[in-house]
Amino acid sequence: METIQIKDKIFRPYMSVEDINEILDSLSAQLNRDYADKDPLLIIVLNGAFIFAADLCKKLTIPCRLSLIKVSSYQGTESTNQISNLIGLKESLKNEHIIIVEDIIDTGNTMEYLLKTVSSHQPASMAICSLLFKPNSFSKDYKINYIGRSIPDDFVVGYGFDYDGYGRNLPCIYQLNA
Ligand code: IMP
Ligand code: MG
Repeated sequence: METIQIKDKIFRPYMSVEDINEILDSLSAQLNRDYADKDPLLIIVLNGAFIFAADLCKKLTIPCRLSLIKVSSYQGTESTNQISNLIGLKESLKNEHIIIVEDIIDTGNTMEYLLKTVSSHQPASMAICSLLFKPNSFSKDYKINYIGRSIPDDFVVGYGFDYDGYGRNLPCIYQLNA
């Protein structure tokens, strides 16, 4: 793996396909164990989580359903407090065991909004599964139940993560060369 350039920025290799696969194995094993008899509904947060969620759900051996939603709070490499509306939630969530699948939790604003929205639908339970977590940026008090890996604040691209729309298609994860 070599450094790559996207627009004006240089990114260095950070997590390989093998690293990601180990995380997927660990997360899927936990979910297969914890949700064995629960028939969960996975709420997948687009766009970022699309590759992670696709790979993760292929490793789930339990009965489960998927629903894709969209919400956005990010521009460039700076997190903003601006959160647009949630699109695509059509299923009834009442009495469902919900697992919200996210690519990354940074400030936690996006997830806070999602938790509020989902909980207003009276689910049986709610859990969060995020591929990455930036603990230094996080300032909320809710629990993140399943975390793939905690990382420093540096901006990442690849495997669903984008820089101004580019890089989502990369098979592994790169970190901004600060
Ligand atoms: P939060 O609301 O600050 O937690 O931001 C969450 C959203 O910001 C994520 O779902 C991502 O779409 C985006 N984001 C946060 N950090 C990064 C990053 O390092 N690379 C790409 N997108 C990021
Ligand atoms: Mg996201």
